Amino acid sequence: MPVRAGANRLGPMKNANSGSSLRFAAAAALVLSVALLSCAGKQTPRDRITDPGEMIYNGLTVSGVDCYKCHNADGTGTWRGANLAERVPKLTDPAIEKAINEGPGMMPAFKGKLDAQQMAAITTWLRGRFH
Ligand code: HEC
Repeated sequence: MPVRAGANRLGPMKNANSGSSLRFAAAAALVLSVALLSCAGKQTPRDRITDPGEMIYNGLTVSGVDCYKCHNADGTGTWRGANLAERVPKLTDPAIEKAINEGPGMMPAFKGKLDAQQMAAITTWLRGRFH
């Protein structure tokens, strides 16, 4: 009688880890995908920029405006965003502004996030870089 009482002592512990390793794998996958999504493009540091348009492009002045993440600091693009060295020379200034406002394809729309002066600054910087 007293022997039987201890027979299942390890029973409930047996599977305790399989659930948590699944949760770990899910968390790791989430962290990895967030890291991939947010770090696609390089950012030019503030102390290497003097142009106000380049500041905005690099996400340093207007919150929520972060073109570099998809188009890279140098504008040559990443897997998330087009190479602007190829696009900008084919676009008029109003077409660049239209793209920023409306977001073609997989690009988000930035309408309402930039005032006229900021929009002009970013367009002028892109134009000066890729003519
Ligand atoms: C989430 C990623 C992403 C962000 C952020 C982003 N873009 Fe784009 N952009 C794209 C993609 C993708 C395209 C290509 C769209 C297509 O032609 O299908 C594109 C295209 C463009 C084009 C070319 C449009 C054309 O008609 O050829 C310009 C110019 C441009 N982006 C400028 C910007 C600027 C300036 C910013 C910041 C205000 C910005 N993008 C932010 C993804 C992004």
